[in-house]
Amino acid sequence: MAKRVLVTGCTRGLGRELLEVFAETARVAGCGRGELELQAMRSRLPEARLWRVDLCEAAEVEQMALELQEHFGQLDLLVAAAGFMPPNAPLGDSAPDAAGAWRRAVEVNVLALAQLLRSFAPLMAPKGAIVVLSSRYGRAVAPGMGCYSATKWATEAMAKTLALELLAREVAVVSLDPGVVNTEMLRQNCQTEEELKWCAQQRSPEEFAQECGPFLLSLGLEDTGRNLTAPGSPESYFQTGVPYKDRPAWASGFGAFRASRRQARRYFISGVMLGSQKTLTEAGLAPQNYRQQISDVIRKADPEAVIVDPLEVVQQKAARENSNMDGLNSSTGAVREAFLEVVGLVQTCDVIVSHLPEASMGSAVELWEARKHQLTVLTISPMKDNWTIRSVTDHNFADLADFEANLSAHL
Ligand SMILES: NC(=O)c1ccc[n+]([C@@H]2O[C@H](COP(=O)([O-])OP(=O)(O)OC[C@H]3O[C@@H](n4cnc5c(N)ncnc54)[C@H](OP(=O)(O)O)[C@@H]3O)[C@@H](O)[C@H]2O)c1
Repeated sequence: MAKRVLVTGCTRGLGRELLEVFAETARVAGCGRGELELQAMRSRLPEARLWRVDLCEAAEVEQMALELQEHFGQLDLLVAAAGFMPPNAPLGDSAPDAAGAWRRAVEVNVLALAQLLRSFAPLMAPKGAIVVLSSRYGRAVAPGMGCYSATKWATEAMAKTLALELLAREVAVVSLDPGVVNTEMLRQNCQTEEELKWCAQQRSPEEFAQECGPFLLSLGLEDTGRNLTAPGSPESYFQTGVPYKDRPAWASGFGAFRASRRQARRYFISGVMLGSQKTLTEAGLAPQNYRQQISDVIRKADPEAVIVDPLEVVQQKAARENSNMDGLNSSTGAVREAFLEVVGLVQTCDVIVSHLPEASMGSAVELWEARKHQLTVLTISPMKDNWTIRSVTDHNFADLADFEANLSAHL
């Protein structure tokens, strides 16, 4: 059965071109305010159901939902493309918002979108998808773009919230950064010939829709909650946290979360316990005095430091069970439990220091966990060519003396 698709903002730009592409294989409906544009579309696509609707008027949106339900029953794809981009203006400027750009942007990009989602989410068929058009500025910020960004970050939050809420109904909800496309919206902020020339070099809405239309029709529940980027966009658009060359990294997304400076930093001491020996006994552990040495150096550099030592954690666990390392080691179940507990502690820390005079499988897992959770990763190892170390470490110290002399520079 042909999919049933609704596109908002279909009178021009991305919405219009997407609707045209969807109409090749799907039953389509759309809305916008421009009557002339709607008429032109009616003559091009006589089968399409088109409404003249101001999305900022809740009653009009609810009426459209009622009529769409009568017409289609349910919807398989909703693309919320309508949007407004306010003029570029510094947030830190004292000039009043004379043109009411902030109010308009919040009305169109936030409040109208919320109303649209409230009215249409109930009409979504199982395995259907909702796509809200976001922007790179919904995931990053730039000077002068504060108003647009604020509303597009709200768009991202609404998409993720709804994705959670509709999981049980098997309806996917995603946000889509369309990349840079040469539409009226892009051109409206241009002041010079040069800037208009730049716009003309960007992707045309037709090209965008040819590539992105089939992609949107293919979305499924496995995509829900994702921050999507239109196919064909530059590689860097697919990642948040990729800094613009003239801006700090945190301007491109949240960056790493970390405890506030007032909270003491937690340091995870990782390192060889058993090494490559074949059997484990408490007495047979590799020398463990490095743990105390490392802790002392850390405390000298950071007097507030909280040390998380997995050896202590395992020993305390064994003691709680009236046992010791040897006792714990005799049960694979207990070993697994202890290992998972220790590895789970990594993400509660801010810094990992791993002492690796030789290779250590347990430490490799801890280091990987630390990298995934964006800890500061410090290693102490002569194995400077080791690929695991090179891939995860923020800095490798040659030995404990190097660590003691230079730790402060790497915190
Ligand atoms: N173009 C880009 O490079 C780019 C980049 C990032 C994100 N985006 C996002 O992609 C979406 C589409 O952008 P675009 O470039 O196609 O913009 P556009 O050319 O300005 O088109 C905007 C569409 O939204 C509709 N619209 C605006 N306010 C409305 C309202 N109150 N009620 C009903 N419809 C309304 C407009 O229709 P009427 O005027 O007829 O009402 C028009 O069809 C937007 O959400 C935009 O933020 C675009």
